[in-house]
Amino acid sequence: MISDDSQALLQLQNINKSFPGVQALKDVTMTVLPGEIHGLLGENGAGKSTLMKILNGVYQADAGSIMWQGQAIDLNSPQAAQQSGISMIHQELALVGYLDAGKNIFLGREPHGMIPGTINWRKMYADARHILEELGLTIDVKRPVRFFSIAQRQMIEVAKALSFDARLIIMDEPTSSLTDREVETLFYQMRSLREQGVSIIFISHRLEEIFEICDRVTVLRDGQWVATSPIEELDRDILIKHMVGREVNQIYERRSNQASEHIVLEVQNLNRGARVKDISFQLRQGEILGIAGLVGAGRTEMLETIFGVHPAKSGTIAINGKPVSIRRPDQAIKQGIGFVTEDRKGQGLFPVMTVAANIAMTRLTELVRTVFVNWREVNSLAEDFIKRLDIRTPSPQQNVRNLSGGNQQKVVISRWLTLNPRVLILDEPTRGIDVGAKSEIYRLIQQLAADGVGIIMASSELPEILGVSDRVLVMHEGRFAGEFDPKQATQDDLMVAATGTYQEGCLK
Ligand SMILES: Nc1ncnc2c1ncn2[C@@H]1O[C@H](COP(=O)(O)OP(=O)(O)OP(=O)(O)O)[C@@H](O)[C@H]1O
Ligand SMILES: [Mg+2]
Repeated sequence: MISDDSQALLQLQNINKSFPGVQALKDVTMTVLPGEIHGLLGENGAGKSTLMKILNGVYQADAGSIMWQGQAIDLNSPQAAQQSGISMIHQELALVGYLDAGKNIFLGREPHGMIPGTINWRKMYADARHILEELGLTIDVKRPVRFFSIAQRQMIEVAKALSFDARLIIMDEPTSSLTDREVETLFYQMRSLREQGVSIIFISHRLEEIFEICDRVTVLRDGQWVATSPIEELDRDILIKHMVGREVNQIYERRSNQASEHIVLEVQNLNRGARVKDISFQLRQGEILGIAGLVGAGRTEMLETIFGVHPAKSGTIAINGKPVSIRRPDQAIKQGIGFVTEDRKGQGLFPVMTVAANIAMTRLTELVRTVFVNWREVNSLAEDFIKRLDIRTPSPQQNVRNLSGGNQQKVVISRWLTLNPRVLILDEPTRGIDVGAKSEIYRLIQQLAADGVGIIMASSELPEILGVSDRVLVMHEGRFAGEFDPKQATQDDLMVAATGTYQEGCLK
């Protein structure tokens, strides 16, 4: 801990916060120094976002105090926090979809025009363009943000936080949907902010990022402070132990390939525009097929085409040897295909409904007896999955939007599992998920495969692809550019294929 607390920019002291049924924070104390990048770590549901929302004035603490530049401060709204110089990038992106990028960045702070009461739009868009360019993003700032990819929206959110003259910027999982290159750009910005004396609180589940960028780290577990130390005094194992409260040696436990000979899904010559070109592959029952590729390679588009989100222009899909027509997602579901999307907030969750209803959603029609929904069955189904996936929620009746980000992901996965799919497609299944829960999800994927489900898993995390899959296909510009045996291939091999410089025809 620091010796002279008067130097601190921020001191959170004995912060407590309860929600109905959960004590999210218990006596948490944390100090941030001027010009440091302070990592905040903990498992899903540990209380990181809650603590940061208190600091940003979104929530009020039940007890405890906040000292800002040596003075007690009352942060009762996000505006109050902003005025004090605290700005926050939220984990669940908070942009307004139908407004353009420029308006989103300057929402409520549009520059005034010459005539009182008017807005200087030209200046606003020029400023927005400038901030985004500094972040390496050249986009049309007058386009509604809903047309941008998740990564682009994330960058717009970062630009928004940077546009305030903040002394402290809170970044709640800003990198979870960025490409490696975008992460590097963000880190570059973070370092230059640090040089200017700005402090940053950085939340991420990717430990490599923590080691690369942070000066000090604080770990929370179950709403309590566990440790604060300079990064030099930590290593991966210690950090994980602090977070999980036990040792996690084996994140990837390789099992033997249990794929049967039976081909459950066969895709032939699937085409749909520039990002899905001539895709052909077979998926065996019980096989885990990893799909790697750089962002923009077409992985998501290819999976969405198979699932009928965008119908294919040409090509065939066969399930268990029988050709099927999939032009819409409900037809895919009928064929026993499930799809856990990468954008859980946009496509996966019904935020104002309960955890139980979200899990049972696709089974609801079955669980309706005459005109009444059998809530007892809905609940017991939900309870079963809450246990199986270790979903941290006070009860199945909790509103799903109140769950932490990682736990929401588990709810989405549960929903698809209730359908007992033959083929389960997972797009970035562990994005935003903590190390402990990750290994649980890998075990679950392997269990499903052992039960005979064919799994297609697209991921940007190469260790995950290599650690979990039975076979890996790499995409480049809408095509498959290499096939690998993950027991022999290295991350470099996959990267070479992903950049399109791999020699065809040699299966490693
Ligand atoms: N508005 C709310 N109402 C009820 N419970 C809440 C609310 N917000 C958070 N919680 C609960 O408080 C606890 C801490 O959640 P929080 O979102 O702070 O976790 P986190 O550390 O940010 O996790 P993650 O890594 O998954 O984002 C969880 O049990 C969560 O379900
Ligand atoms: Mg969070």
